[in-house]
Amino acid sequence: MNQQTSENGKGARVALISGAGRGIGAITAAELVRQGWRVSLGMRQPERPAWDVNGDVHLHAYDATDPGAEALWLEAALGAFGRIDAIVANAGIMIPKTVIEADDEDLDAMLAVNVKAPRRLAKAAWEPLAQSGRGRVIIIGSLSGKRVKSAKSGLYAMSKFAAVALSHAIRQTGFDLGIRATAICPGFVATDMALSITDRPADLMTDPADIARIIAMLLDLPNEASVAEFAINCQLEEFF
Ligand SMILES: NC(=O)c1ccc[n+]([C@@H]2O[C@H](COP(=O)([O-])OP(=O)(O)OC[C@H]3O[C@@H](n4cnc5c(N)ncnc54)[C@H](OP(=O)(O)O)[C@@H]3O)[C@@H](O)[C@H]2O)c1
Repeated sequence: MNQQTSENGKGARVALISGAGRGIGAITAAELVRQGWRVSLGMRQPERPAWDVNGDVHLHAYDATDPGAEALWLEAALGAFGRIDAIVANAGIMIPKTVIEADDEDLDAMLAVNVKAPRRLAKAAWEPLAQSGRGRVIIIGSLSGKRVKSAKSGLYAMSKFAAVALSHAIRQTGFDLGIRATAICPGFVATDMALSITDRPADLMTDPADIARIIAMLLDLPNEASVAEFAINCQLEEFF
């Protein structure tokens, strides 16, 4: 039996990935498909990825700032695949401002995409995740959800601390239903986001392909090997 084929014979497991048009989300989608998953990609501008040669990847319009978007996406993905086994809440934004420079609007914008939208996505997917008996939720947090490394990352850190707390809260809520949640907490990853805020060369940052492999591994672990947080760093710090 294919590793991804379910016991109930309804086909390969299905993952929803937000912000899958570029960066960590796009590479994670490709890796999961390579490992036999079916995927539904939520993007602001849905576009079929070049690697989807068979055209069987599901695409859906998804704007994390639209509170109705998650329910519509879930309905469409269920229509396409009939099951949801995992969500990867990846879409995120970073506004590099100190807590003194920033306005409420900056904080609201980051909380909307980095915290509120992932909560709604988990909520919308809750029933199918529970039905699978081994639902998985990956929240892409950050090492900025574990420590405040610089003044300019302070506002972003507020949102990512909340995202990590969200992941723990989902883990607590879903455990008896077989749902396992993990907060992935990377430092600099070589994507548009990090490359726009630091002079650190890309080859000294974590490769997004390595984040994708870690996500795939975490999704595969059995219910009895729950990982609450997974920290990844490209540089030496005291605790991470
Ligand atoms: N890169 C790093 O160093 C790093 C480190 C720690 C954590 N992270 C986290 O990793 C996640 C992925 O970031 P990345 O590094 O891949 O950055 P990225 O290349 O900038 O990609 C960000 C993704 O989020 C999507 N997105 C942003 N706002 C959205 C919205 N309102 N609705 C739907 N999608 C939206 C973007 O879509 P569009 O293409 O439509 O803009 C894009 O696909 C984020 O949560 C980020 O905070 C990144």
